[in-house]
Amino acid sequence: MEKNVKRISVFDTTLRDGEQTPGVSFPLSYKIQIAKQLDKLGVDYIEAGFPAASKGEFEAVKTIVELGLESKICGLARIVKEDIDAALDSGADLIHIFISTSKIQIDHTIKKSRDEIVEIAVDAVEYIKNHGRKCMFSAMDATRTEIDYLKRIYKAVEGAGVDIINVPDTVGVATPFRFHNLIKQLREHLKVPIDVHCHNDFGLAAANTYVAVLAGATQVQVTINGIGERAGNANLAEVVMILESIEGIKTGIKTEFLVETSKLVERFSGLKLPPNTPIVGENAFSHESGIHAHGVIKEASTFEPGVITPEMVGHRRRIVLGKHAGRHQIKKILEEAGYHVSEENLSKIVEKVKEIGDRGKRVTDLDLFTIAEVVIGELKKEERAILVDEITVLTGNKITPTAVINANVMEDKKVTSAIGVGPVDAALKAVTDLVGKRIKITEFKMDAITGGSDALAEVYVTVEDETGRSFTARAAGPDIVMASIDAVINAVNYLLIKKKINNSE
Ligand code: KIV
Ligand code: ZN
Repeated sequence: MEKNVKRISVFDTTLRDGEQTPGVSFPLSYKIQIAKQLDKLGVDYIEAGFPAASKGEFEAVKTIVELGLESKICGLARIVKEDIDAALDSGADLIHIFISTSKIQIDHTIKKSRDEIVEIAVDAVEYIKNHGRKCMFSAMDATRTEIDYLKRIYKAVEGAGVDIINVPDTVGVATPFRFHNLIKQLREHLKVPIDVHCHNDFGLAAANTYVAVLAGATQVQVTINGIGERAGNANLAEVVMILESIEGIKTGIKTEFLVETSKLVERFSGLKLPPNTPIVGENAFSHESGIHAHGVIKEASTFEPGVITPEMVGHRRRIVLGKHAGRHQIKKILEEAGYHVSEENLSKIVEKVKEIGDRGKRVTDLDLFTIAEVVIGELKKEERAILVDEITVLTGNKITPTAVINANVMEDKKVTSAIGVGPVDAALKAVTDLVGKRIKITEFKMDAITGGSDALAEVYVTVEDETGRSFTARAAGPDIVMASIDAVINAVNYLLIKKKINNSE
């Protein structure tokens, strides 16, 4: 890495390349919220869209420019006058122009001579600079372009006053050794700052982006959750944490907002994040194996990277119970919940937990505490803080899904009603209203455990109270709305009863 580089600039393209993900289209209100979140995260650039693509795209980029965020706004343009004018008119701070430079793309798409391509690229840079705007030039498909031609075109746009050049690995064929070498050669050949844009077709986008920085690139193009064309782009969270926590290279990103940002984009894009996604995935700091959990309970860095903690990225550590659960782990969870069990009873509890795990089930907190209470002989079945009298849920093509619940909450009669995006959403909002929104449902998972339209649905939930204490529970039944309500009420009942007990102590 160059000695004088103090920090890497982060260029986020979630709203442009990210929106090119098949099936993803963000309405304007989502784009605005994502842009504000990216600004809160501290990205240097937000590529807000492709202004010439449609009226909506133009309006979106213009609206985001007018938000007056700290992050600078970029608009994409092909090297044609109408595109560049639209990008200029949108008010974007940086105009990102691109043109194909590889033989395969030139022969099959733009059909221009190499000299012509250099000439129009130079003219476009001069045009943008004459309008007093910053310009970034991308040689599209750079990693499949002959190196001599690549050097020639980048040198020419540098001469025309371009502010930064981008080296896109458009089809994701770069490998870390080759990409490092390419960026190093360009670094030696040019003075202008180098930015890289890596696609993830072979799962190497973050690795290639990282080695590019080591070779002298000073700006990285990334997206939230790695969304983008085909297999996507380099994932912002991965690239930033590799740079920050492994290499000690500053990016200006407020890493504590990484999980929050990932969840927002997950929700708006409709692309569910696999739990094993690095850094921000649900399992990134979860431990199930007894050996690992035992180590982590004593010292987290025994079975975690150590250079990164859940708090650094806005995550939380979870000890998940299953068939690999160990005595120490179970004892610790029980003790924290106030159960002090003998070694003999602990053995019985461990055995029962493993039995559930062997049946392929996740063991919730409620399962564990119920097992413990049965083993200790303390199960008080009648103890329920919420007793539901009546539930009515309405849904249909002309009805806003609505739920009404009548219940006794700590012996007080309560009626709540709520609307939602679907019947489950409406019902769960009505349930959380029963306790004055003092709880948050932080995880909700539904599985069909038998086949057919009368399948049994099993619902797992994690519920968090105002103190941040979380609790997992489950319920099953043939009606998805009722199973969802039961799972949350099971969790809330436990939290409220424990609270009552703790308060009365
Ligand atoms: O992948 C690519 O080449 C692009 C360019 C527009 C930079 O997205
Ligand atoms: Zn791309």
